[in-house]
Amino acid sequence: MKKLVLASNNPGKLREFAQLLAPLDFEVLPQAHFNIPEAEEPHHTFVENALVKARHAARLSGLPALADDSGLCVAALDGAPGVYSARYAGEPKSDARNNQKLIAELAGKGDRRAHYVCVLVLVQHADDPQPLITEGEWHGEILATPRGTGGFGYDPYFLLPQLGLTGAEMSAEQKNAISHRGKALALLIQRLRAGD
Ligand code: IMP
Repeated sequence: MKKLVLASNNPGKLREFAQLLAPLDFEVLPQAHFNIPEAEEPHHTFVENALVKARHAARLSGLPALADDSGLCVAALDGAPGVYSARYAGEPKSDARNNQKLIAELAGKGDRRAHYVCVLVLVQHADDPQPLITEGEWHGEILATPRGTGGFGYDPYFLLPQLGLTGAEMSAEQKNAISHRGKALALLIQRLRAGD
């Protein structure tokens, strides 16, 4: 099996990526396995941050590396919180405070449209000049009151109007099949199968 370092220590992401990439003969290892510390995410776009994380993990492990960067972009807030989604309400990061801030910022606004974004970057080595990059989006609306207990982050407030469910009211399988991360990963797998 080909080893691939995941530039994240999130156990949920590791499980999902490991399961979906195993049929392609990849063994996915978390960067913690190599004692790699988290990279800085200093940029203003998802793709730049994902690229920095992937190159950092590849440089320190000597192996191909996969990184993702994701967040929520709200139309009425000019795309905020965007790349700052995890720390929208400051340090230490807290989903509860992030959601509180989001709802306060949207108070009285009629336009509730929002979408999640996920960018995946796969580099063969730290200086790879042609990284494999895929992106997925998931469109919905922000509710004023939370619903559901699944998912994480902004999911209890993220409504899919066609389904009548929030991200937190879906099973993990249901969410993975249609989410920004699921879509980006499906595209990555397609590109890997095509031998890109
Ligand atoms: P990261 O890509 O793991 O750094 O995640 C960035 C942040 O975006 C998370 O901490 C969440 O606040 C938000 N986010 C990304 N994807 C999701 C999702 O699927 N549900 C809820 N929040 C998400």
